[in-house]
Amino acid sequence: MSYDFDMLVDRRPSNSTKWHRYAPDVLPMWIADMDFRVPEPVLAALRRAIEHGIFGYEEASLSLRETVAMRMQRLYNWHVTPEMVIAVPGLESGFNAAAWAVCAPEEGLLIQTPVYYPFLKVPRNVGLVGQPARLQQINHGHTLHYEVDWEAFESAINLQEARTRMFLLCHPHNPTGQVYSQSDLTRMAEICASEDIIICADEIHSELLLGETRHTPMATLSPEVAARTITLIAPSKTFNVAGLFCGFAIISNESLRRRYQAAVERLTLHVNSLGLIAAEAALSGACDEWLQNLRAYLTANRDFLVNYVREHLPGIRTTVPEATYLAWLDCSALLENGKIKGSPHKFFLEKARVALNEGADFGPGGEGFVRLNFGCPRATLTEALERMSAALSELA
Ligand SMILES: Cc1ncc(COP(=O)(O)O)c(C=O)c1O
Repeated sequence: MSYDFDMLVDRRPSNSTKWHRYAPDVLPMWIADMDFRVPEPVLAALRRAIEHGIFGYEEASLSLRETVAMRMQRLYNWHVTPEMVIAVPGLESGFNAAAWAVCAPEEGLLIQTPVYYPFLKVPRNVGLVGQPARLQQINHGHTLHYEVDWEAFESAINLQEARTRMFLLCHPHNPTGQVYSQSDLTRMAEICASEDIIICADEIHSELLLGETRHTPMATLSPEVAARTITLIAPSKTFNVAGLFCGFAIISNESLRRRYQAAVERLTLHVNSLGLIAAEAALSGACDEWLQNLRAYLTANRDFLVNYVREHLPGIRTTVPEATYLAWLDCSALLENGKIKGSPHKFFLEKARVALNEGADFGPGGEGFVRLNFGCPRATLTEALERMSAALSELA
């Protein structure tokens, strides 16, 4: 079967946040959803539900939880049982619920920055002390990557005299697009075990793998690591159903699971019935061929973008993401030489009419960066990059 990811779908008639936040002449390349139609088996399942015509209260069925468990078995040889699976309305709710379940007031939450900005709000939401550990930026000409700064990681533990209770891991990492190696994961897990820290692994981007990248779920390292890990996954990013708000926590440790379930109930987190239906179709395997084609398309978009940055965006350096459809662009050289003043997000919005995410929102280490979403047809990506290039040439 062939899939047309080049098709331009006008999203303005919908209530899309991405397409309505800025003026109509602005090309939106920011919030993380894609401009692609979802795979047909998901649409067919939703059509059947609409035709049924009744939208009463629903909950995650055994068959849905079995579908999640079977997918983990198939992808990672990870033995998950349906009892370990708890549905949540999304992963932002999912990791906030984890913090409520695990931490007492004033305890510490370890987070690696720069990071997906809602991570940074958890300490305030839950009454905790945020303990940021900066990732180390490594530059190579027009590209960059990140490594774990182990000294920063260990120094953040118990920072400000708050006992670190939970490590909120983003794997693959947003905004860097990096997939942590098995040895990095093992070292993180060992440090957490030695300090008795629970790990909440947000693995929402785990199926959006580019090129030959493989993903290892944190909880698959060993039964001991699984016992201290809450894994969060969702079909939302992979199959472009974020607006249907449905994700899953997978927790093998029974007492941790009970605490998590209690937090979900206390926070009254209910999942939308259409989200449950879409999730079952998305994760069933029926959309895997679509996903394979999507990954190839996104990989080609990534490669196009990296080449374009090298050839046409002087003064900008980019990550070469291994996963996600997010590129993280370092504009600090343009700030340092005075070509851009203030925020690069504001510069590209005003001068290029392209909306990107402001790097500083991603916490320490994000200043001088913008995040670009390339989950769109190549024509849209090309137009955005050309607009950015034209705005930069005006500076000369
Ligand atoms: C790492 C990460 N976690 C969670 C979310 C949000 O998930 P949800 O929409 O399911 O709350 C995102 C969205 O971009 C994300 O990148």
